[in-house]
Amino acid sequence: MSKPTILTGLRANNELHLGNYLGAMLPMVDMAKQKTGEYRFNFFVPDLHSFTTPIDHGQLYEQALDNIRAYIAAGLPVGVEDIHVYRQSFIRAHSEMTWILSCFSYFGEMSRMTQFKDKGGGSDSVSVGLFSYPILMAADILLYDAKYVPVGDDQTQHLEFTRDIAERMNSRFGNLFELPLPVKKQHEFFGKDQGLRIRDLVDPTKKMSKSDETGKGVLFLRDAPDVIRKKIMGATTDSLESVSYDHDKQPGVSNLLDILTLLGGSKDDFIGHKQYGPLKNEVADRVVDLIENFQARLGEVDDVDILQKVEVSEEAMSQIADSKLFMVQEALGLRK
Ligand code: TYM
Repeated sequence: MSKPTILTGLRANNELHLGNYLGAMLPMVDMAKQKTGEYRFNFFVPDLHSFTTPIDHGQLYEQALDNIRAYIAAGLPVGVEDIHVYRQSFIRAHSEMTWILSCFSYFGEMSRMTQFKDKGGGSDSVSVGLFSYPILMAADILLYDAKYVPVGDDQTQHLEFTRDIAERMNSRFGNLFELPLPVKKQHEFFGKDQGLRIRDLVDPTKKMSKSDETGKGVLFLRDAPDVIRKKIMGATTDSLESVSYDHDKQPGVSNLLDILTLLGGSKDDFIGHKQYGPLKNEVADRVVDLIENFQARLGEVDDVDILQKVEVSEEAMSQIADSKLFMVQEALGLRK
């Protein structure tokens, strides 16, 4: 029996931020440290996803490697057996599986995806890639029979679609795919009660996002520590003059409390306080500490080691992906 797989991906389309770190990187890194040997860990860069919205293609290749460097700086113990780091486009089966799954996916279910509606829905010149990319994401997961997929709240709809398409294929063609766990069970496995959504510091009604044009409310992992501190101290709050955890009434304050708890602090130390300054200070101290450690480790990452690791992983994962693809091709009558 092969080990159960934990898998996640981070697009290479801009600088990584604290939302990516807390939503996807940290759960994966923590699990990889705690459960070494029990699971297979797949961390990959969905580089084919990166240009569903316009990017600077001159930077793409390096940015894909940068994401791998970032994971290692975040503490992913890549020297350990069964931890794999790879780039999606280097494993051809992702593209072919996507085409196959596309033919069994419905226009209606893609149209309902909120990410598509938010990013481009309604415009005639929105790319077909943006529309159908949840199918590529499903292929990323199903090719490796991944059961556990740590993602932020914004990706949960895509995870549910992955379960739907896997179930549809299984019921029509026999047992082809392992279903990733339902979203609620994923949260339980990663020790959370809900999906994570770190908000923008300037406008806490929206999520912290790489595609934000100004970047003022976004804590980038490569920001200088004093820039981080300044952004946190200037975070939008409210005039209620009492700290409480209520995302509807106090979205800014609640976002700071979320960051605080994820970085090991306690909400109880601040709930009921009249001033917001001490909370901001504490959050700034913790984030700066994290960023300084992260940046120091990033400086130590050895590129030769990384490239070697990536090549070995890409070779090993190509074999797994190819054999799953072959199984599906057989079931569909493409191979005998
Ligand atoms: P991407 O690259 O936009 O984001 C990477 C991960 O970071 C999480 N995230 C957040 N979490 C909390 N708060 C935020 N503000 C925040 N912003 C981003 C995202 O939920 C995600 O987990 N389609 C995916 C990448 C992908 C993937 C996959 C993930 C492609 N194939 C297969 C898992 C499995 C994406 O665009 O994530």
